[in-house]
Amino acid sequence: MDYGEEMKGLVGTVEAAIERLLPASSVPSSRLHEAMRYSMTAGGKRLRPVLVLSAAKLFATRPASDPVPASVALECVHTYSLVHDDLPCMDDDDLRRGRPTAHKAFDEATALLAGDALLTLAFSILSGAYGAYPALANSLVAELSGAAGSTRLIGGQMEDLLAERGAGASPAQLDFIHLSKTAAMIEASLAMGGLCGGASPSELGTLRAAGRDLGLAFQIVDDVLDATSDTPTLGKTAGKDARSGKATYVSVHGVDAARRMARERSDAAAAALGRLPGDTGFLRWLAGSLAIRTH
Ligand code: IPE
Ligand code: IPE
Ligand code: MG
Ligand code: MG
Ligand code: MG
Repeated sequence: MDYGEEMKGLVGTVEAAIERLLPASSVPSSRLHEAMRYSMTAGGKRLRPVLVLSAAKLFATRPASDPVPASVALECVHTYSLVHDDLPCMDDDDLRRGRPTAHKAFDEATALLAGDALLTLAFSILSGAYGAYPALANSLVAELSGAAGSTRLIGGQMEDLLAERGAGASPAQLDFIHLSKTAAMIEASLAMGGLCGGASPSELGTLRAAGRDLGLAFQIVDDVLDATSDTPTLGKTAGKDARSGKATYVSVHGVDAARRMARERSDAAAAALGRLPGDTGFLRWLAGSLAIRTH
């Protein structure tokens, strides 16, 4: 099996569903829906929705619910977090997914509102798509709201900014930031896929553990790429973390140790994934490829 082709197929499924589930630009407020679509259709790796779909597939022999709406809900929350992350009051970035950031292409207020609306839309998609399965709907909402909330994604974003503006971060504080701002959503992606596929509680535990390791590896590589790659390759401004005085794996541990730690974490994720049922080849390949990704 060509895993690159499998990846392309899954990305295609997600992008078709994004097209279907987002309000059309012609729906009032047109400008708001245009801005939401601008950020959601700009490309991006679609890692989180692909994790949802491929985790659900592991349990293909069990009665399952369609994971596609859950995958779009994840991508809505992720994209909103990027739109807000880029705002001048946060990381102040001009480029995202190879295009001007939402507040540059529109304006700050529109970007703020488009982010708000994407966050809300995620939960509307979940309630609409899984309403006939109340227990599943409840578990998916709990998983996504937990990952996106104040003790995880947003808490991590808060501590990220405090470390930048204050005295930096210790290695333990940095792990809290990375596990919260990034790994939580990656963990939720695998868990939500497992929930749609009918994973058992112990399999969900394994998916979550793999997601934490994968998420940490992913953010460590993000830090390394910011320091070592270039803007056209990344589709976002390179070298920004050092200029802003961000606490990153590169600033705290150095590039070489960061690369090694990313590899260790992605190996641990692949090992955990290998303990799951079904054909785990694609997910293990994905875990390995994230540690050596170039954008
Ligand atoms: C960017 O996420 C923010 C981080 C958590 C590092 P991605 O690197 O997945 O961004 P897209 O979705 O591909 O644009
Ligand atoms: C992750 O951190 C951002 C979010 C959780 C939204 P970064 O601030 O490092 O992400 P990039 O580098 O801007 O994509
Ligand atoms: Mg940030
Ligand atoms: Mg940023
Ligand atoms: Mg970054």
